[in-house]
Amino acid sequence: MLWSLLKKHLAPFRRDLLLVLILQLVGTIAALYLPSLNADIIDNGVVRGDTSYIVRVGLVMLGVSLIQVIATITAVYFGSRTAMGLGRDLRSVFFARVAEFSSREVAGFGAPSLITRNTNDVQQIQMVTAMGLTMMVTAPIMMVGGIIMALREDVGLSWLVVVAVPVLGLSIGFIATHLVPAFRSMQKRIDAVNRVLREQATGIRVLRAFVREPYETDRFDEANTELTNVALTAGRWMAAIFPLVMLVLNVSSVAVLWFGGMRVDSGAMEIGALTAFLTYLLQILMSVMMATFMFVMLPRAAVSADRIAEVLDTEPTVKPPAHGIANVVEHGHLRLDNVTFAYPGADEPVLSGVTAEARPGETLAIIGSTGAGKTTLVNLIPRLFDVTSGRVLVDGIDVRELDPEVLWSKIGLIPQNPYLFSGTVASNLRYGKPDASEAEMWEALEIAQARDFVEAMPDGLDSPVSQGGTNVSGGQRQRIQIARALIKRPEVYVFDDSFSALDLATDARLRRALKPIATESTVIIVAQRVSTIVNADRILVLEDGRTVGIGRHDELLATCPTYVEIVESQAQAEAV
Ligand SMILES: Nc1ncnc2c1ncn2[C@@H]1O[C@H](COP(=O)(O)OP(=O)(O)O)[C@@H](O)[C@H]1O
Ligand SMILES: [Mg+2]
Repeated sequence: MLWSLLKKHLAPFRRDLLLVLILQLVGTIAALYLPSLNADIIDNGVVRGDTSYIVRVGLVMLGVSLIQVIATITAVYFGSRTAMGLGRDLRSVFFARVAEFSSREVAGFGAPSLITRNTNDVQQIQMVTAMGLTMMVTAPIMMVGGIIMALREDVGLSWLVVVAVPVLGLSIGFIATHLVPAFRSMQKRIDAVNRVLREQATGIRVLRAFVREPYETDRFDEANTELTNVALTAGRWMAAIFPLVMLVLNVSSVAVLWFGGMRVDSGAMEIGALTAFLTYLLQILMSVMMATFMFVMLPRAAVSADRIAEVLDTEPTVKPPAHGIANVVEHGHLRLDNVTFAYPGADEPVLSGVTAEARPGETLAIIGSTGAGKTTLVNLIPRLFDVTSGRVLVDGIDVRELDPEVLWSKIGLIPQNPYLFSGTVASNLRYGKPDASEAEMWEALEIAQARDFVEAMPDGLDSPVSQGGTNVSGGQRQRIQIARALIKRPEVYVFDDSFSALDLATDARLRRALKPIATESTVIIVAQRVSTIVNADRILVLEDGRTVGIGRHDELLATCPTYVEIVESQAQAEAV
């Protein structure tokens, strides 16, 4: 998965990659050449006292080092650029994919996990790419080149290489077998911490009200401790790598000097060759370390790649049609035709055989107890979900065949749980219409009964709104949200319980102000209060997802016992 992800998303960087490979190659060869030049200086220059030879070869050495430094620095520069670019591209395709998701897929992954995947997991890929670009070329060339060069200097000491390389490889490998599982579970633990933190941050008011803070604190502590433990385990093994490598390196150096010293004594080896051999052995061991390091990093990145690919490969269940119909003759005609819907995994449908219709200028009200399926029903109109069977028709066309842009431009949905985006009042209103003028905004706010409190805010339209709209009251949020839909001038208004958060007087004023605006539009109102909907052209009474009555207020009073019950219970409540 890691490989195919890299192959696909590194493709645009082919030129940079090639450049990095060439530069690394040059840098490594230069690095391999230096110790042998050094040996030449000692054996042919210093030992014989040939100053001009020292200067000549010294200048060559200087040149080679310069090439090595420049090649390596440039390689790291382009390598980092490629890795960061890869991260940027991954995050952007990830974001685009999540934007296509319906509520079903988002709920499936969970928002915190999606966030971790698009940040931390992408970072893992980025890191391993940056490291890979540095080491993948350098390590094998350094290893093979180092062995060849070492043998050229002295064959008699070659058994040291044969011993030191496996010792180092095996010891790092031993550590890796402990590190890899720890890294694997780390991503999951990060998810868990994010999940608890997010729930806590979102539900903070509820937590306070229910005095659940100690419980939540425990829950966070638990997740946090688990992450800490895994990170510590990984950290301990990581910490062991460096001293271990140093131990092997130093023991090998001592061995080279010891056995090499004896060979120099007996005249079998020159002193310069000994220093060169030492350097080559160190280079070989470094490359072994780099290679094993890659093997440690790769599994973790592979886990991250799986987690990213899982999201990228998830097809949204609500798919836009291949050739969406964009030409529609009608404007705002909504028809629900025998609509049945079951949530994924649920046995019982939430809606069964609901049929209703509303034409421009008409108001269709939907009333029913909590859990009757009202929200589910209206969410089917802009395709937040697709019906299980039956059809939702907008302007005579099945919403699944309509061009999504056209569909959404027709529908102004005011969801039950108001959500504002971080920004200002104005920036939120512009979600409805990007080029809305100030006058238009004030007009929409006026109709939505939001003008007064927005005017009272310190900066008016430019007053800040926090993420989710938590710095204004529920009723204010609801009204800004209504204004946001109004400014769009849709053909179908869908108010999902938008009036319940308002007091009776505001509710009545808002509906009165809406009337002239909505003469040409279709209005769907989900309500709990009968007073909100008495004047509707048609009232749909839902009970457990089934239609138990449809008609005008007075008709329902005569025919629908459930409706009569609702009316009576509300009349009683008012009398109390
Ligand atoms: N995302 C969901 N997944 C599964 N079941 C859901 C989901 N949303 C709502 N339900 C269920 O569907 C039923 C109807 O919910 P809803 O349409 O919100 O009712 P209403 O808006 O009338 O109060 C409820 O029983 C609820 O448990
Ligand atoms: Mg609802």
